[in-house]
Amino acid sequence: MKYIAILGLGVVGSGTADLFYANKKEIAARVGDEVQLKYVLDIRDLPESPYADKIVHDIEVIIGDPEVSVVAEVIGGLHPAYEFTCRCLAAGKSVVSSNKELVATYGAELLGLAEEHGVQYLFEASTGGAIPVLAPITRDLAGNRVQGISGILNGTTNYILTRMFRAGATFEAALTEAQEKGYAERNPAADIEGIDACRKICILTATATGTLIDPAAVHTEGITAIRQSDVQVAAQAGYTVKLLGRMVEQSGATFVMVAPFLVPAASPLASIEDVFNGVLVKTDFAGEVLFYGRGAGAHPTASAVAADVISVLRGDAPRRRWSKSDGGVPADFALFTCRHYVSLCGVEKSAVGVVWSEAELLPTEGEEIALLTPMISEREFEDELARLGASGARLQAHIRVLD
Ligand code: HSE
Repeated sequence: MKYIAILGLGVVGSGTADLFYANKKEIAARVGDEVQLKYVLDIRDLPESPYADKIVHDIEVIIGDPEVSVVAEVIGGLHPAYEFTCRCLAAGKSVVSSNKELVATYGAELLGLAEEHGVQYLFEASTGGAIPVLAPITRDLAGNRVQGISGILNGTTNYILTRMFRAGATFEAALTEAQEKGYAERNPAADIEGIDACRKICILTATATGTLIDPAAVHTEGITAIRQSDVQVAAQAGYTVKLLGRMVEQSGATFVMVAPFLVPAASPLASIEDVFNGVLVKTDFAGEVLFYGRGAGAHPTASAVAADVISVLRGDAPRRRWSKSDGGVPADFALFTCRHYVSLCGVEKSAVGVVWSEAELLPTEGEEIALLTPMISEREFEDELARLGASGARLQAHIRVLD
């Protein structure tokens, strides 16, 4: 018999417990032994929960029980998740986690601690929900150099943008729906401001390169400035708007960012809708590989948590070593180059043509001028926009374009 514990009986914790009961037989066959949930740590009593008899309030009960070999940390947030994870690893227990904030902040240190104590620290559920993406990058694409990653990494914002695109829904109504479905973070600012996607692109980049970037060093924009009118103009021009986490190699530099992008309809990312996530990984030998699935929700996330638990118990978990970024990565965002969608008012088309002679003008219904600039760096974009500003132009919208 193998014994496991779950830290936190929230959305993901309950889903994980459900999974281990529902698929008990299959899991036993795959592990080669029965797997039993022995404890659930929570500060609440939760007498109505089917797992009420497993609830303990003191982490010491789990740490002090030598029968528990794997702990699933699904509490979320930095504290006390960090302290509990350190304690469990130091006590010789493997830890699996859905906690993207913790992994993006302390992943390098926690992997080191796990190695020091001869146990595993795994976090497939932290990125892309149900989608197997971290293990495949580590194992199945191990012969490649990863040259780029573009991911729809946040289910809540993808749900909102899909509802804005498909149904003309307002931002607020779509956010409320996503919250009701249990996709959103407790504080949805982490979703809509791009912070959640930022943590996930840091985890993906570290998995691909071995270097963990400080999320605070990543250029991060959310979707709160996206207007219904921009979504419509983009749609007419053959684009859909997606919040992307990206790692991009350009001229030998590695850029990392989170921002809304106009995604061409022909891109495999364009058709990823609702709560689904998609991660397009560009490699030197395998070419492009697309990972797709449900990026949020209790059962999809539980699926990834369970995969890590089973992998530890079977002894086939991938070993990772991350170092922290030395400050040279990510590259200076001012040098990142792409096309830009802009919507301007207070300026004539002729004045825009003087600054961006190769711009592609897009049809609009109102007074605003919408266009796609040529490929220019962020610095050039800012300088040229300032020149237009001197002629009276006022920026109404700015969204980068995925090439
Ligand atoms: N709030 C997150 C999302 C949950 O919407 O994708 C999964 O990490």
